[in-house]
Amino acid sequence: PPAALALDHYRPEDHDRLYEICVRTGDSGDDATSKYREPELLGHIYLGAYLALEPEHALVLRDPDGVAQGYCVATAETARFEQRCETEWWPALRERYPMPRPEEDSPDAALIRKIHQPGGTNPALLQDFPAHLHIDLLPVAQGGGNGKRLLLAVLDELHADGAPGVHLGVGGRNARAIGFYEHVGLRTVIHHPWGLTMGTALPLH
Ligand code: ACO
Repeated sequence: PPAALALDHYRPEDHDRLYEICVRTGDSGDDATSKYREPELLGHIYLGAYLALEPEHALVLRDPDGVAQGYCVATAETARFEQRCETEWWPALRERYPMPRPEEDSPDAALIRKIHQPGGTNPALLQDFPAHLHIDLLPVAQGGGNGKRLLLAVLDELHADGAPGVHLGVGGRNARAIGFYEHVGLRTVIHHPWGLTMGTALPLH
């Protein structure tokens, strides 16, 4: 198993490294680098807004050289976060990545459509589980308890910020992450064609 990595707060110098981790874990936990022509798209959708708008909720795992090998980003209030994204995050990206033509069906085009039509989270879900998060560790960091330490630290912060519950989305092919979340104590809240919404009340235990 990997060595225990140091839990730390996100710093702006980590930004590009975290985008890299996002891509290298972006295909149901596996490396998505070869799947996309524009590798930054994944980070723009699943990482960047959290770093820009809620850096205080972003935690990283550092190796002894200080290099981030994993991160967790989160918001305590998903509805408010999505509203802020509409004014502060998506507009610049919508200009930079124009809406693909309907006949374009590349993986990049699918992500760019999400930038234009992110779709809000179901308000019924947000009553009990208003917080949400994303967590990604490079393979070198996985399996030694690092993911659990990182997740529990973020859940503590969300609880301290007053969130009564947290949810997350996980792809149906990501058996490792689903097993991890179940083991840690989350349960499935919604089944989707693409995967699961899982969640828990806070505090977790
Ligand atoms: N099934 C059952 N138990 C598991 C599984 C599993 N698949 N995986 C881990 N566990 C258990 C461990 O045995 C350990 O148990 P213990 O605390 O009783 O000893 C506990 O869960 C904690 O495991 P960690 O070693 O902390 O797990 P890891 O460091 O690998 O972190 C994670 C898990 C975050 C899923 C990591 O593997 C990862 O980042 N994978 C790649 C990216 C990814 O898939 N991210 C999730 C995308 S979904 C989203 O972000 C919302």
